[in-house]
This record gives sequence, structure tokens and C-alpha cells, in this order.
Amino acid sequence: MSENATLFVNAAQTVTCAGPARARCGPEMADAVVRADVAVLVEGDRIAAVGDHQTLRNTRVDAFIVDCAGGVLTPGFVDSHTHAIFGRARYEEQELRAAGVPYMEIARRGGGIHASVRDLRARSEADLFEAAAPRLRALASSGVTTVEVKSGYGLSLEDEIKSLRVVQRLSQSLPMRIVPTWLGAHEIPLEFRERANGRRLYIDLLVHEMLPVVARERLARFADVFCEPGVFTPNESREILTAARHAGLGIKLHADELEAGGGAELAGELNATSADHLAAVSQAGIAALASAGTVATLLPGTMLFLGKTSQAPARRLIDAGVPVALATDFNPGTSPTTNFPLILTLGVSQLHLSVAESIVAGTVNGAAAVGLAARTGQLAVGFSADLALWDIHDVRELPYWYGAGRCRASWARGKPCHSHDLALTFTG
Ligand code: NIG
Ligand code: FE
Repeated sequence: MSENATLFVNAAQTVTCAGPARARCGPEMADAVVRADVAVLVEGDRIAAVGDHQTLRNTRVDAFIVDCAGGVLTPGFVDSHTHAIFGRARYEEQELRAAGVPYMEIARRGGGIHASVRDLRARSEADLFEAAAPRLRALASSGVTTVEVKSGYGLSLEDEIKSLRVVQRLSQSLPMRIVPTWLGAHEIPLEFRERANGRRLYIDLLVHEMLPVVARERLARFADVFCEPGVFTPNESREILTAARHAGLGIKLHADELEAGGGAELAGELNATSADHLAAVSQAGIAALASAGTVATLLPGTMLFLGKTSQAPARRLIDAGVPVALATDFNPGTSPTTNFPLILTLGVSQLHLSVAESIVAGTVNGAAAVGLAARTGQLAVGFSADLALWDIHDVRELPYWYGAGRCRASWARGKPCHSHDLALTFTG
């Protein structure tokens, strides 16, 4: 009886996602385990029991009661792919794209990622922290209790380290769990693109100067590369990611986002934890991901916002046995949304997932995409007490009321992470 206890009662449905503590694939994704009439007991930062209300109340008569009042309880969502560390928004590019200028052409003209790099380099760590904290609070207010945050708009030793220190400060000051990823290989910075042999020189900087500091100071758990025609080639990506693995980091890739370029094949070869985007993945790429057990993190908000008519082949990935996760890709260029349930809506309406598949993709498989499948993503005994409570009565309403904000409250590691009534007064 040493730890504080909280008992969540009176949920119309409790979606537990209970099952194996690893990425789910194929038919395993089709059952999110929806239970009626169960209560959830939290002790300290862990889930202690899921079961009969009265029995659990008798076990812990001292428990603080959270009355779910006929709402739906789910695991807190895991947003396994964001680029939340940036300064100004890039709304001017939206009209350019609408007028027919492609994303990669905007980058070639010095906009896109380059515009965010110029902006971030001029800002202090404190300024970037102040900009990022409300964005993560907005994610928390949409039911996210674990979020992966990438660097990638610094692209110099100093500015990448500055970005990762902001991520470190955020994880020390916000209740949500934050997983830091080093994305120094997000672009070749313009000052290197302009030099003869600049690509080689930038990769040397990444591998021999940035990576050792990131690893030594434990500033990131994963390394990521934008492996895409026009950005980093598969050979360059392999070199950077192999060095990152030797330095003790996990591996992720932005792969086949706009064009098939061998990114998924490389992710499989390297046994990457996740390969992300995959809108243009090849059949060989799908096979490589399946045999490696790499999580395919799909980002339908990005394709929507870029005005693309095609989406990643989610059904073919699932049928091939690849575990699929869903995430926001929250970033200033291609996906400026912090609305996680909207991504579930797109999972159903654009990727043709069932509601259960999209929820498993946003919980268990999102957790697997950041190496945390044994800790979060399920309401099951021993898992971290990461929960979200929704103002709906049936879980199918979660993707249905699209664009709506129906998260009443969330808890991360047993502590309040968001409360609807307190949303505007939440302090970092
Ligand atoms: O995931 N594709 C690369 N990175 C981001 C976009 C970055 C940006 O445009 O600022 C993405 O879509
Ligand atoms: Fe991304």
C-alpha cells in the first residue's frame, strides 16, 4: 500500500490493446481489445490491474477515483514521428504548392527545410523551448502521452546540439514521455551544397563531429536520415546509419516519401526499428521490411497536406506482414497538425484501415517504432500508466468526429498530462 493509487471507473468502453509486448502484424492488428464494464487500477506510475470495478475498489479502498462518466478510455497515444523543434511557420509554401510548385522544387529554390534551418540557426535555445513547449502540450491535449521529437533544422554541430538540448529540456519539464531522435541528415545544408565535394564533407561532419557528441552526451536514442532522391542516397544513408548504430543509437529512416529510391530496402537490410512515410515504397521494399520486422510508420497527414492523391499502401504492407504505425509527422513544412485523432481518421478513410487497426497503429505499434513496446501502448498490468479519456461512448467515434478535440484528459506515467478544463492554464 505504499504507492498512491488511482482507480478509473465507469468507462463505457476500455480499449486495452492488451497482447504481446511487441509490434503487431497482420491479423494481430485487427483486435484492439474493447472491454465494457472494467475498471483500471493505477499504482504509482504503473497499471496494477484491469478488471471488475467492485473487486478493485475493495483491493485499494484508499484509491483516488476518476469517474470516466461513460466516456472511452484508451492507452495514451504514441506519436512516433515529429519534427517539433522549429521556429517560424512556413505557411507561404502552401500557396506555392497550390499554384503547382512541387515540394522538392521549393527546396531547390532555398525554401523548405532550408528556410527552417536559416530561421532556427538565428534563435536561442530558450526561444526554441518557448516555441516547442505549447506544441507538445497541444499534442498532449489530443491524447498523446509519448512523443518522438527529431532535430534536423540545425544541420551544423552547434545547431543540432542546440535542438537536441531543447528536446532534453522539454522532457525534463513536461509530463509526457519524449523520445529524442538525431536527424542531422535531414538535408545537405546550402553552404555544403554550394561547395565542390560538399556532400562528402557534410557526411564527414555528421559522422565524425556531430554523432560523437550526440552519443557521448546521450542526446538522442535514435538516428534518422531523409533517404530520398535529391536528398541522401541509400549508400550515404547506410554510411551514416551504420556509424550511428556503432555509436549505440537505434535506426530510423525517412524512406520513399515522394519517390521510390531504395529507402525501404535499406531499412530492411539494416534492421531499422522503423521506416517512415513509404508513400512510394516498392514491392521489394515491402518484402525487405517484412523480413526484418521493421515497423512501417505511415504519415497520412503529410500526403493530405501536400495535396497528393495517393497514400502509402497500408493494406499491402499489412498483408505482407509488416507492422504498421500511424503518426502525425508534425512539422512546419509538410504536416503542421498536432491532432492525433485526425491521423486515425485518415488511417481509416485514406489508408483503408479498420478502426481497431488504426488504434493499434497509434498505440502498440507506435510504441514499437520508438523501441518502447514493452513499456507503453497497452492498458495491461505492468505497463506504464499512460491513458487517455475521451468524450465519446463508442471507440468508433474516435476517427468519426474528424478534426474534433474530444480528449477529456490524459495521464502519462500516472501523472496528469492534459486536462480539458485546464488546457489553457497548463504550465511547462
Ligand atoms: O517528414 N521529409 C522530410 N522531412 C519532413 C518535412 C520537413 C520540412 O518540410 O520541413 C517530413 O515530411
Ligand atoms: Fe518526417
